[in-house]
Amino acid sequence: MFPSLDDSSTLFFPLCIFFALAVPLVWCCRVLLRLRTPSCGCDTCKSYVSGSWSAEFPNLSDWYVHLLCNSPTRTVHVHVLRNVITADPANVEHIIAWNFGNYPKGKAFSDILGDLLGRGIFNVDGVHWKLQRKLASSELGSICVREHAFGIVSAEITDRLVPLLLSSRGEVMDLQEVFRRFSFDTVCKFSFGLDPGCLDLSMPLSSFAQAFDLASRLSAERALAVSPVLWKIMRLFNVGSERKLRQATRLINVLAEQVIKQRRLEMNKNINKNSSDLLSRFIRNIKDDGYLRDIVISFLLAGRDTVASGLTGFFWLLSKNPRVEKCIREESDAVMGTMETGEPSFNQIRDMQYLHAAVHESLRLLPPVQFDSKFSLRNDVLPDGTFISGQTRVTYHPYAMGRMEQIWGPDATEFRPERWLRDSVNGPVFSPESPFKYPVFQGGPRVCLGKEVAVMEMKSVALALIRRFDVRLVDRNQPLRFSPGLTANVSGGLPVIAMEKGNGKCL
Ligand code: HEM
Repeated sequence: MFPSLDDSSTLFFPLCIFFALAVPLVWCCRVLLRLRTPSCGCDTCKSYVSGSWSAEFPNLSDWYVHLLCNSPTRTVHVHVLRNVITADPANVEHIIAWNFGNYPKGKAFSDILGDLLGRGIFNVDGVHWKLQRKLASSELGSICVREHAFGIVSAEITDRLVPLLLSSRGEVMDLQEVFRRFSFDTVCKFSFGLDPGCLDLSMPLSSFAQAFDLASRLSAERALAVSPVLWKIMRLFNVGSERKLRQATRLINVLAEQVIKQRRLEMNKNINKNSSDLLSRFIRNIKDDGYLRDIVISFLLAGRDTVASGLTGFFWLLSKNPRVEKCIREESDAVMGTMETGEPSFNQIRDMQYLHAAVHESLRLLPPVQFDSKFSLRNDVLPDGTFISGQTRVTYHPYAMGRMEQIWGPDATEFRPERWLRDSVNGPVFSPESPFKYPVFQGGPRVCLGKEVAVMEMKSVALALIRRFDVRLVDRNQPLRFSPGLTANVSGGLPVIAMEKGNGKCL
């Protein structure tokens, strides 16, 4: 009746092969069936599928600006993507604040970044998110953490950024790449207490930085795939870009675990027990080293490219608006005196209202996170009457919102920091806008945790460069074309020439 031991062993290998092939095949068919896109003949879908929008618009986001400005509800539905996109502040408030529970990041998003971020705050919903959020917001909210971050940023500016620009001696450099390396150094020091030294161009890029670069790029590329089936199959068989991603994440994990182990050891021996980096702060509350790794890696991803992208956009806008640059110089001279080499204090940076306004204004026009998606759990109706069925991707679009006359008035596309200033007895003061009209840092329960640190970092870098250098674009008419990814990245970088003031002319 039953096969003998010999029979079973002859059956064993064919059965293994059968299961090895059948399981992924059944899985692929299920995913393919689930992902069938609804056929649609509307102009928007036709234009998206054929790519014909690119004949008129330099970036997909610019096409969305056009669609959203022309929609009476400021909301559009791209049926082929099963994606509702909105630029209506009331809708945004409904999605990210009032009905937050119905609009999590969802599984599709967490799958994309899951291998790199694991259960880190940036990539989870529900209980894991709540726990990390509570812990992280109490740490990041404290003034001493912000001062600690300011110390790191100032040191990186004085010891590396300024010397790097001085040593360029008028040669062309890619400012976007400089900012990416700068922000990686600072966010690593802030999160891990670890200095990768990326801005030191004479040193080879550390293996950690290289692996992190590769892993975040390859994870972002997953999001661009029309369907996740391909990368999921490649991951299953560990081939192509998925193999590289696995290798890179493995290296990041090993290095991060080493740092964590070392830090625990030091803390147990009472060495460096007053370290202020996030890792040292979290380590006291979290015992699971894997979880700790996920949390800190999330901070690296959240705080790295965003700041670099914000600074790149800021200097691009400044090059077209010398009047704004002049106003920033005048304000800083009034606060710090006219010595170009003096370093501002934390309080001086905080008090510069015009600079604060200029940073917010540049993020309005060129937000690092151009759009952000959630996935609805249940059917819902947005305040503008748009019906949302369950399991629909719902996107709000800060890039489009920043350019809409309906939101910012007839001068919406102008770079005008003054729109953020109100008169007071002590002179003009910065007046914030509703985060739902300006969701550059998101808003509601999931508002960016690094907002204050990011703005302080951007102000510090902007000030150091404006006071000491003339930074000019190599091509003054360079249009901004963004390469696809999680954060706005200018394709081809931002080639500039930086000359020390009073040391000759640029271009
Ligand atoms: C200009 C720079 C920055 C911008 C525009 C920005 C923007 C954002 C946005 C839009 C989100 C929401 C993402 C989402 O939930 O889908 C976010 C979340 C987050 N940001 Fe930032 N960010 C910046 C810098 C930073 C920095 C420097 C840090 C850390 C030091 C940071 C830490 C975080 C964290 C931890 C989250 C996750 C919050 C949560 O899910 O509860 N960000 N940021």
